[in-house]
Amino acid sequence: MTAPPATRLLGTDAAAIEAAAHCLAAGGLVAFPTETVYGLGADAADDRAIARLYEAKGRPAFNPLIAHVTDGAAARALARFDADAARLAAAFWPGPLTLVLPKEAGCPVAELATAGLDTVAVRVPRHAVAQNILAAFGKPIVAPSANRSGHVSPTSAAHVLADLRGRIDLIIDGGTAPVGIESSIVACLGEPTLLRPGGVPREAIERALGHPLAEPPRVVDGAPAAPGMLAAHYAPRTPLRLDVAGVAPGEALLAFGPELTAGADQAARVLNLSPRGDLVEAAANLFAHLRSLDGAGAARIVVMPVPRSGLGEAINDRLQRARRGATP
Ligand code: TXA
Ligand code: MG
Repeated sequence: MTAPPATRLLGTDAAAIEAAAHCLAAGGLVAFPTETVYGLGADAADDRAIARLYEAKGRPAFNPLIAHVTDGAAARALARFDADAARLAAAFWPGPLTLVLPKEAGCPVAELATAGLDTVAVRVPRHAVAQNILAAFGKPIVAPSANRSGHVSPTSAAHVLADLRGRIDLIIDGGTAPVGIESSIVACLGEPTLLRPGGVPREAIERALGHPLAEPPRVVDGAPAAPGMLAAHYAPRTPLRLDVAGVAPGEALLAFGPELTAGADQAARVLNLSPRGDLVEAAANLFAHLRSLDGAGAARIVVMPVPRSGLGEAINDRLQRARRGATP
C-alpha cells in the first residue's frame, strides 16, 4: 500500500480551490466544507481513490456514497428523475437534500461508490466553497462526511483533522458548516420515502411534494434501506442519556432552551444547543457540542428534551444513534 499522506491544510482562495481540483484529479482525498457538514471528497469515477477513501474512513464498503454535482443538469447525467424528484430538486437544490434515484445508463459513478446498487444518491450542495471545488474539478465528487466511520460528523476543519490527520491529502478550511447536520435523504423510486431526516425538515419536503412522505421499509432484502443508517452511529465514547429531567453530580449536560433542568449547577460541564430554543441553531451546534462534552471526562452526557418538529426530527435521530453507539 502507499505510505500515509501528510495532510495539508489550506484556506479557500483561488489557489486553494485549484489545489483541491488537482489533488482530486490525481486520485487524492480532499476534505471540504458543505452547508451541512464537512465532506471527504474523491473523484466519483476513480475506483482506486474511492478504495482509499473507504480505507481512510474505516468505512464498510457496502455503505454507498453520495455523488455531489454543481446543478440539476449535471445530476441528470447520473440519474433518472420522476415528477416527484424533479419537484424536490427544483424546491431544494442547491441545498441540504440528497435524492436516491435510479442510475442513468452510462452513469460515471464507480460501482464501488454505489456499493453495486442500481440506484445512486445525488446532491447539489449550496456552500460556495463546495460549489467552487465542483466547478474547478468539472466532474462529480463522491463525499461522505469527513469523519472516521462511526464518529460524529465534522462541522469544522479542526474536527476533520482530529479524525483524519495523516490519512487524507488535503483539508480546505472554510470555517464552520452552517446547517450542522447532514442532508435529508429522500428516495424517489416510486412513492417518495424519507431514508434519513436531515437539513431539510420533513414538513418542507411534504409541502413541496404536495403529499406526505411514505414510511421507509425497515429493511430491504435483509439490508438497511439507507445502508449507512446503522443503529450504532455517531458514537461518542461517553454514555448518553436522553430526555432527562435532572442532572447528577459529575454528569455533563447538553441543554436546550432558556430553562436549565434541575441540578444543572452540579453538572461537570454544561453546553446549550440553543439558549433561545431555536432548532436551526441547535442543529448547527449539535456535533461540535457532542464532541466537546465527550472530551470533558464526565461519567455520562445527559441531554434535555429537544422538540421533534422541523429540524428536531433529525436532531433527535442523531441523538438516539449517539446513545446506542456509545460504549457503556
Ligand atoms: O450532508 C451530507 O449528506 C454529507 C455531506 C458531506 O454532503 N454527506 C453525508 O454522507 O452525510 P454519508 O456518506 O456520511 O451519508 C450518506 C448516506 C449513507 O447513510 C448511505 O448509506 C446513504 O447515504 N446512501 C448513499 N447511497 C445510497 C443509495 N443508493 N441508496 C440508499 N442509501 C444510500
Ligand atoms: Mg456520515
